[in-house]
Amino acid sequence: MILWNEKFNLGISTIDEQHKRWVILMNMLQESVNLSNKSEVIIEVLDQMIAYAEYHFAFEERVFEEFGFIEEGSHLQLHLDFKNNIIELKKIVDSGLIPMASTILMEMQNWLINHICNEDRKYIEFFKKNGVT
Ligand SMILES: [Fe+2]
Repeated sequence: MILWNEKFNLGISTIDEQHKRWVILMNMLQESVNLSNKSEVIIEVLDQMIAYAEYHFAFEERVFEEFGFIEEGSHLQLHLDFKNNIIELKKIVDSGLIPMASTILMEMQNWLINHICNEDRKYIEFFKKNGVT
């Protein structure tokens, strides 16, 4: 379970709101893995989380692309790492190996916290300079 912390705020409200929503979906996903042993129930929440992560990545990536973010390449690689985890998690849940889902889910949660606190922080000035508020 990820508890929203003040240090997650980047001071860019669009991004902060998206991150908050994403944290909620990650927590819902964890809850469904903990409480349900039915793949269909988990997949439903998982698909919502995937759709939201993709929407959020696309939002960031559009800004990088449009205004030419110098660290775009390495940031995109990090998004790709998360997408690969999604594929792996989906395979695990699809095959009904629910207990295995907890481990990868924990990795994904750590990735998210680290991404918000350290990686996304690197584009704050760039986003603000280009009018993303
Ligand atoms: Fe990002």
